[in-house]
Amino acid sequence: MTTLITTTVAARLALVGATARAHDLYSAAGVDFYERLVGPDRAEVREILALARDTPGAVLDVAAGSGRLTIPLVRSGHPVTAIDLSTDMLAHLRRGLPDEAAVETVVTDMRDFTLTRRFGLVILGATSITLLDDAGRARLYASVRRHLAADGLFALTVAGGASADSLAVATDRTIAVPGAAGDEPYLFSQQIEEAGTVRVVNWVRLADITPGAEVPVLTSRLHVLSPELLAEELVAAGFAVPHVAPVRTPPGVDILLLTTSLSRHEGERR
Ligand SMILES: C[S@@+](CC[C@H](N)C(=O)[O-])C[C@H]1O[C@@H](n2cnc3c(N)ncnc32)[C@H](O)[C@@H]1O
Repeated sequence: MTTLITTTVAARLALVGATARAHDLYSAAGVDFYERLVGPDRAEVREILALARDTPGAVLDVAAGSGRLTIPLVRSGHPVTAIDLSTDMLAHLRRGLPDEAAVETVVTDMRDFTLTRRFGLVILGATSITLLDDAGRARLYASVRRHLAADGLFALTVAGGASADSLAVATDRTIAVPGAAGDEPYLFSQQIEEAGTVRVVNWVRLADITPGAEVPVLTSRLHVLSPELLAEELVAAGFAVPHVAPVRTPPGVDILLLTTSLSRHEGERR
């Protein structure tokens, strides 16, 4: 069975006779939390806007979520299609834009989508590639290939350096999450599984851990991926060797932007 609750969280709740109710980080209960956690994060925005400026055609934002990247792109005048599996995240995105904004939102799976046009730029930000397992990534690459203009770019991000190292280590710590009434303490618990290739992440509001309670636990299950592995996979999937560049981030956070295009061979087959 797939683990969604970490051993630390289960033990912490058991101590007070409480039980866990798992919620996906991107479902209804998680959307507000995700916004509080990463909403103000501007990482990747500058680099993605620069790519969009230099790339003709519409932009496809894959796993667009609540629009952290979509909204700045639309505000900069780019026509954007935003796809995501979560109706709740896309509803949040739409609320962040005026009605007449040039954005199309489509609820669909990034592993297998069919849209009616091709795009000059396809982006997959916030290291969301790590949501997919090997088979899922192969299906994503095939879907992106089908939707990329012949001279289009595919850009995706992944953790690098010390950030990548920290994703491969079990961690339990208290974090402060901004809220309307100030910061709230949450337990952040990361468990490493499947020989270091998968991490299960939980967030629990400490104030919710009360005797006998059914405690909401926000969960995510992610894959530990290196830029080297992604580069290999992209080439095997018919893309050119990606250009890899660091994203401007706050100190202590390392994110790499991989930018690629259809390999010459793939482009000529069209
Ligand atoms: C880390 S968030 C990224 C959101 C946004 N791009 C950003 O930069 O903040 C990951 C998003 O991937 C979506 N997602 C997860 N699995 C998916 C799938 N198989 N297909 C499409 N979207 C998926 C989630 O609903 C969530 O909105």
